[in-house]
Amino acid sequence: MSTTHIAAEIGSIAPTVLLPGDPLRARHIATMFLDDCREVSARRNMLAFTGSYRGMPVTVMGSGMGIPSCAIYATELARSYQVRRIVRVGTCGGIGDVAIGDLLLAQSASTDSGFNRLHFGGHDLAACADFGLLQAVHEQARRSNLAVRVARVFSTDCFYDGDANILPLLARHHICGIEMESAGLYGVAMRENIQALSVLTMTDHLQRDEHMAADQREHG
Ligand code: HPA
Repeated sequence: MSTTHIAAEIGSIAPTVLLPGDPLRARHIATMFLDDCREVSARRNMLAFTGSYRGMPVTVMGSGMGIPSCAIYATELARSYQVRRIVRVGTCGGIGDVAIGDLLLAQSASTDSGFNRLHFGGHDLAACADFGLLQAVHEQARRSNLAVRVARVFSTDCFYDGDANILPLLARHHICGIEMESAGLYGVAMRENIQALSVLTMTDHLQRDEHMAADQREHG
């Protein structure tokens, strides 16, 4: 048995899933960090791998880019594979007082997408991370001396040619990261009653000409 978009056998996906956007990044994470890891799905080349991390079963799977793609996988993972916890691991653009390489834990995700409104009767959903997960990751990151901060982010549907005035607006609301998936992931997680968190590495500052070096991008 599998789902429309995931070929894995039911039971072959762990309750905890790491969800990078890029399926090749999923393979990289899985081979670097998981023991006994095996590929469990390659439908549409959206690779998924299950293994264990310090004895705990973990799946790493690509989500694709943008809210619709990410939400399809998150929904099928929660509904058909009994996934309880999804941690998006991705990158974001930076606004305001953030530095290249900072890790942003997305407490909330505002958006220009209509996705959550479609599911929420036309109202504005407060798309937010699971507090327990946020707290646990924050504590662990601090213990590991990582430059981590709890942040408000913005999930946009437009990588190119979006609202030209968006950056000052985001800065005005002390939103310091922009990416394309978290608001949808959080909306799905709220409906499906699972835990979700986005952990985002800031790679490009959108108000200064600062960018992460290519080798740091690849290996970070
Ligand atoms: N905009 C949208 N999505 C992104 C960005 C960005 O600057 N950086 C990484 N994901």
